[in-house]
Amino acid sequence: MGGRLLASSQPEPSLSDIATSAAHGEDSPYFAGWRAYDEDPYDPVTNPSGVIQMGLAENQVSFDLLEAYLREHPEASDCGVGFRENALFQDYHGLKSFRMAMASFMETVRGGKARFDPDRIVLTAGATAANELLTFILANPGDALLVPTPYYPGFDRDLRWRTGVNIVPMHCGSDTGFQVTAGALQAAYDEAVASGVRVRGVVLTNPSNPLGTTIERAVLEDIVDFVARNDIHLISDEIYSGSVFAAPELVSVAEVVEGRVRRGDGRGVAARVHVVYSLSKDLGLPGFRVGVVYSYNDAVVAAARRMSSFTLVSSQTQRTLAAMLSDAAFAAAYVRANRARLRERRDHMAAGLARAGLACLRGNAGLFVWVDMRPLLDEATVVGELRLWLQVVAEAKLNISPGSSCHCSEPGWFRVCFANMSLETLDVALQRLSCFTERWNKSIQN
Ligand SMILES: Cc1ncc(COP(=O)(O)O)c(C=O)c1O
Repeated sequence: MGGRLLASSQPEPSLSDIATSAAHGEDSPYFAGWRAYDEDPYDPVTNPSGVIQMGLAENQVSFDLLEAYLREHPEASDCGVGFRENALFQDYHGLKSFRMAMASFMETVRGGKARFDPDRIVLTAGATAANELLTFILANPGDALLVPTPYYPGFDRDLRWRTGVNIVPMHCGSDTGFQVTAGALQAAYDEAVASGVRVRGVVLTNPSNPLGTTIERAVLEDIVDFVARNDIHLISDEIYSGSVFAAPELVSVAEVVEGRVRRGDGRGVAARVHVVYSLSKDLGLPGFRVGVVYSYNDAVVAAARRMSSFTLVSSQTQRTLAAMLSDAAFAAAYVRANRARLRERRDHMAAGLARAGLACLRGNAGLFVWVDMRPLLDEATVVGELRLWLQVVAEAKLNISPGSSCHCSEPGWFRVCFANMSLETLDVALQRLSCFTERWNKSIQN
């Protein structure tokens, strides 16, 4: 923000509770790390000793494929073509051609194992808006959503801040590979209800951010039973569904719902399940702000459509991406190539971590690894974890995300991103990490 508009000796006029609430979570180390990077960003030529940003889950490994498509199809992104159609009023339904293209792309990333009806697709400005919008629809201020930890730090903002809804964290630990279970969900639910909290639903990310793992089919089936049994909702944020690069394959909650509807036991389940998607990760387009709410519940679709007026996707973006994603051959080839590249990156990253003497959770998806840095803690507390994090930022000049910013209950785990930089920069980062652990090893020997 710039300077003050008017010098005044008067007290500041008061603002709303939302405007002054701390629930945005901006002060967490997750965002503080971004600032450390912004103040001293690494550049191989102009600032080779700067901070390397490994705290941003961005996918740059397949940009060349998108750029090649746009070069070969200049009409798709030509602002002059269809200028008037783009400029004129757009209602909240979005372009049918784009909703059809999105439905088809969501099917492609799931290997055709789930179907999406374009008329159930509600477009939003990214998954950020989609998650908030669903929270507004499913819960009242003061109600709560159960969220397994560790979870995406942005949920504190997206689910809580403007909605007034609370998050009840459900802690998962390394003893079970941080995997959520329906039994643990039921225990957390019972405890919350016993203390007077009105739990309205569960929010999962599948594949998980920050773990980079997928949820097994049997677990997902149990969770669907759990929400039906307790008369609550399930939001499945599947923003990384096209970024699963190793076995086991993703099982989308859409597959589970369709299976039950086919078997005739989908009643009472389908209307509770809502899928969130976005093109920010699988296609690497967070700047385009394209997200989706997909619900099997007609009333939720209708409310989400009305609310999406606040968070529309521009017509120009829709037209460009409709052209690209309705090209089924291109979309399938992109998804295949992107997966292979992410896998290569992940393997490269895991090998570099091993050279630095660090282990990570065995993952099969996403743009990051979940690294076990517990052996480097001077004390097994959040304070010890944040001390180590500050040391990594100051000495190794790497911004990584401490597990506590993801509400992880075990200090010493860090999320480290690998797809938002060139391979050369990743190698510099891994080299710095090796030097850091080497220095650490020497320091404890002395
Ligand atoms: C699990 C999850 N949900 C939502 C988002 C927000 O995505 P978008 O850029 O589409 O708003 C992210 C971004 O990191 C994420 O990891």
